[in-house]
Amino acid sequence: MTGLKIACRVCSSTTKKFLELGQQPVANRFKDDILSREEKYFLDVVFCPDCFTIQIGKCPDVANVYTDEYPFFTSSSDYMIKHFNELAEYIKRVYLPTFFPVIPGGAREPQANGFIVEIGSNDGTFLKNFTNIPHLGIEPAGNVRSEAIKNGVQCWDSFFDVGVAGAIVQSMGKADVVVSTNVFGHIPNRNSTLQGISDLLKEGGIWINEEAYLGDILEKISYDQFYNEHIFYSTVASFKQALDRHDLGIFDVDFYNVHGGSVRYFVSHKRNMSESAASKKVDHLIDVENLYSFDRLKHFAVEVKRSKHKILGQLHMIKSWGGEIVGYGASAKSTTILNYCGIDRDLIPVIYDTTKEKHHKFCPGTNIQVMPHYHFNGHNPTNVVLFIWNHASEVYKKEGFKERNWIIPIGN
Ligand code: TMP
Ligand code: ZN
Repeated sequence: MTGLKIACRVCSSTTKKFLELGQQPVANRFKDDILSREEKYFLDVVFCPDCFTIQIGKCPDVANVYTDEYPFFTSSSDYMIKHFNELAEYIKRVYLPTFFPVIPGGAREPQANGFIVEIGSNDGTFLKNFTNIPHLGIEPAGNVRSEAIKNGVQCWDSFFDVGVAGAIVQSMGKADVVVSTNVFGHIPNRNSTLQGISDLLKEGGIWINEEAYLGDILEKISYDQFYNEHIFYSTVASFKQALDRHDLGIFDVDFYNVHGGSVRYFVSHKRNMSESAASKKVDHLIDVENLYSFDRLKHFAVEVKRSKHKILGQLHMIKSWGGEIVGYGASAKSTTILNYCGIDRDLIPVIYDTTKEKHHKFCPGTNIQVMPHYHFNGHNPTNVVLFIWNHASEVYKKEGFKERNWIIPIGN
């Protein structure tokens, strides 16, 4: 029930609820049939006054989420492929040991060496860049892991935790670099994950962790980032506190415009870190985040309600004029919007998407059908709700911006 007190998953203190997004189905569980039975969870978002962690209340068991039919493929966005290739190049240049192979009569080009591990390696989009050196992906979802293996990426079928970290160290040694992108916030046992990373890293090794940033969520009123796969929401303050418990510290932070606004943390063992300019940057960011008080979060909840009324008003007005509306991008984020706003096929009969695993299925909690993206232009719709607003530039480039009335479903 929504009224129950929720204990913080990091420090066990009692959390305070600031947002209710109603009953929500499992965000990425697309249905074969409109009438398929669905598990639903109250999507409540809470704040821990002791360690500042922002997290959702109840969520499905992860074993029932990252199954062999997990329908999210990192490679579904060309822009994200480029983003991760750039990260790979940067890691090779800056963080992996290099060696100079002897090529008889040839130039001695430096090459990256060392051992890299990715937690939640999905379809291998990132690790594909490291198949010529020791590497390992940890991925529990069978279908995306098979894609990675086809791409020459070595993977283990597992969720990451302290036990798995120990097994990696035993069989392959400690890692120079650990990478996790858009996954750390999905793992409920934060302390076990952090201890595992601390154990897995070599002395001087680094962990790069990228995830959606709460500051962007508040600013853009992108409440669709809250869905029941995504358990924690990142701030520098809460991340630093959680790391402190496991001898880990942040030595740099960067921000990127991907996935609606992301933060990238550079982490190493605290015992190897000196007091440096980096800690000034971290302290400054935490000062800025002090503005995210509980009152600020409550105000955000009011803005979310307003955002719902705005999008519903827009859609009903178009319908009252006899206009037809379709959706673009059946993302996990769209599940939150559709279910929170109570949008069904009377308003939006169809959402177009590139992921073949979603085609002809129904969006979770609704009777809206997902259709292949290649029918979009044939249909030639005028009004399009861009549920994947986070991929807007890629979509506009592909589909033409001017031809349509693109509607962004979040914000005010
Ligand atoms: P995401 O917002 O979590 O990355 O989900 C993206 C979804 O949108 C995924 O189902 C693939 C789909 N998609 C399209 O249909 N067209 C596109 O151009 C892009 C980039 C993604
Ligand atoms: Zn806490």
